[in-house]
Amino acid sequence: MRVHVAFTPAEEVSAPVGIVIDVLRATSTICQALAGGYERVLCTGEVDDARTLSAAQGGAPLAGERLCVKIEGFDFGNSPREFANGAPKGSTLVLTTTNGTRLLLAAAARCETVLVGSLLNLRAVVEEARAGGAEDVAVLCAGVKGELALDDAYCAGRIAEALGGEPADSAAAAIRLARTFGSHEEGLGASTSAANLRNAGLHDDIVWCAQESVLDIVPRVVSREGLSVEVASG
Ligand code: MLT
Repeated sequence: MRVHVAFTPAEEVSAPVGIVIDVLRATSTICQALAGGYERVLCTGEVDDARTLSAAQGGAPLAGERLCVKIEGFDFGNSPREFANGAPKGSTLVLTTTNGTRLLLAAAARCETVLVGSLLNLRAVVEEARAGGAEDVAVLCAGVKGELALDDAYCAGRIAEALGGEPADSAAAAIRLARTFGSHEEGLGASTSAANLRNAGLHDDIVWCAQESVLDIVPRVVSREGLSVEVASG
């Protein structure tokens, strides 16, 4: 298995299996929401599209952020901690975030299989990708507004290392980068995304997202319709 890493969405690395990462926080939140009892998460890039999707689902709960902050009128922000306790508010959650949900849409257009990765489900997503037996696996980082995000690059390095196989130069670079940090919290915490969360009073989300392999769940894109993708656990 050859392992590739795309550090930004503009690097259109194509592989049969893509593992999408927005570790702070969209993909961590998707993992947590599905582990918490939602049957599916409908992901879309725009706030208006999220509202339309929610209405079409009979008023499905809405989650999402802009500038890390919960969108006005939405039920939830984009914090995995919001989905850790308590019963789900329905079977379907609609989610829109600045970078992560957009990359899921883009990845669904070019990979046969799109898995959702984070540190929370690291072991499970790696096992799933390896079990598929694909010759090429691409770890796709959401980044921030088109630029590399250190938190995603760190997580990509940890996933690439756990995947094993034959790392392309991009994966080798991510693995080396990740090894320079002493802990997951340090790796995530060094990023601008983490600084933005701290400024928004959401430091605890960094700590939460830095937990490794606490969720035995592998969300994947199961369908794509118009401007949204449906993510459910496989
Ligand atoms: C994103 O999609 O850009 C992130 O998940 C932003 C955030 O941390 O809320």
